[in-house]
Amino acid sequence: MKPSLQNAEGGLQASSPKIAKVTIEWFSGKMNGLPIQESVKKLSDLHQIFLDEAARASMDQDQEVYRVRWWAPVPPGDEGGLFWGVTTLNPGKVGDEYFMTHGHSHANRTRAEYYTPVSGNGLLIRMDERRVTWAEEMMPGTLHYLRGEHAHRVVNIGDEPLIFWACWGSDAGYDYGTIREHGFGARVMERDGLPAVIPNE
Ligand SMILES: [Fe+2]
Repeated sequence: MKPSLQNAEGGLQASSPKIAKVTIEWFSGKMNGLPIQESVKKLSDLHQIFLDEAARASMDQDQEVYRVRWWAPVPPGDEGGLFWGVTTLNPGKVGDEYFMTHGHSHANRTRAEYYTPVSGNGLLIRMDERRVTWAEEMMPGTLHYLRGEHAHRVVNIGDEPLIFWACWGSDAGYDYGTIREHGFGARVMERDGLPAVIPNE
């Protein structure tokens, strides 16, 4: 059945269909409309995250590692809402370690998340509450369901930006401190020209 713009009495409704507040360009990862929020992480924001801290400190601190843009239709913490966003993670290395996101768990461990890449080549590093850590290949078309109790981080192992869409709960929250203090159970390093997942402990 075709959607009808008629009201119960058969007359046309006075108002036209509303235009979406936000539009996206799927393959380029662009988001248009208002209000789109943005967070940029430069090398200066990622101290003590990479193994070779001296190498990080010697690089251009203004170099952008990744950028997240998202639409928050409801305030953070609102129960049951959803956020929609896109991350662009640049290619690069600190020493032998590939550029990656800070990584986090959700403050509310019951809140899950989806990731799906549209461009680039990466690894999704996941860690459970016993610190068991593993990697999943990320490439255009892979779909990743992140359980809320798993810490997650994305690593760009390619030569071009890794762009992935995400959808997560407005009441998921972020726990960055655990990762900042203890890290993940593995790192992704270049070994003989190829990415290798190396246990951290
Ligand atoms: Fe998350």
